[in-house]
Amino acid sequence: MKLHSITDSMSKVIELQIPSSLGNEKAAMDLSDSLTNNLQFSKDRQAEIKTAVSEACINAIEHGNKFDTDKKVQILFRESKKFLEIEVIDYGDGFLFDKHPDQINVLKKIESNRREDLRGWGLYIIKKITDKIEAQKLNYGYSLKMFFKRSHKRGY
Ligand SMILES: Nc1ncnc2c1ncn2[C@@H]1O[C@H](COP(=O)(O)OP(=O)(O)OP(=O)(O)O)[C@@H](O)[C@H]1O
Ligand SMILES: [Mg+2]
Repeated sequence: MKLHSITDSMSKVIELQIPSSLGNEKAAMDLSDSLTNNLQFSKDRQAEIKTAVSEACINAIEHGNKFDTDKKVQILFRESKKFLEIEVIDYGDGFLFDKHPDQINVLKKIESNRREDLRGWGLYIIKKITDKIEAQKLNYGYSLKMFFKRSHKRGY
């Protein structure tokens, strides 16, 4: 695992790299907690952001890097005046994020006995929690940027 901090003219950037096995997302969650604490997000918001970080990292480990521990998931935390931006990058082909449904039938899913219905929560949770998302295919992988307003007002 690698952690370092870069300051460019615009913003402060903290980079974490984790090998692609489940459990390593906890390092990103812990870092998220300490940064959101320093940036004075509310306790509730800190917990939500940590959850989004966890889901994005697990997806990158599982679907992006396919549990290949030689491949790292890169997590970049950038502070700007308005946002905390958290970018999660993997080496996979990505997927059409904009085509993913914004809504799922939560009750139906919870009550379902079908195996495939048990999965598919991560992106729903991420979409609910973030203030803005940018997903982008890179020439070597896939990037998901999640933006969290620094003065968050609940939209739900
Ligand atoms: N980083 C990624 N790279 C490639 N495909 C992805 C990535 N993240 C998500 N996907 C695709 O989007 C689908 C939905 O993701 P989502 O996190 O909602 O559900 P899941 O990972 O299948 O299940 P759950 O998160 O509930 O355990 C995944 O099954 C996968 O096909
Ligand atoms: Mg998932």
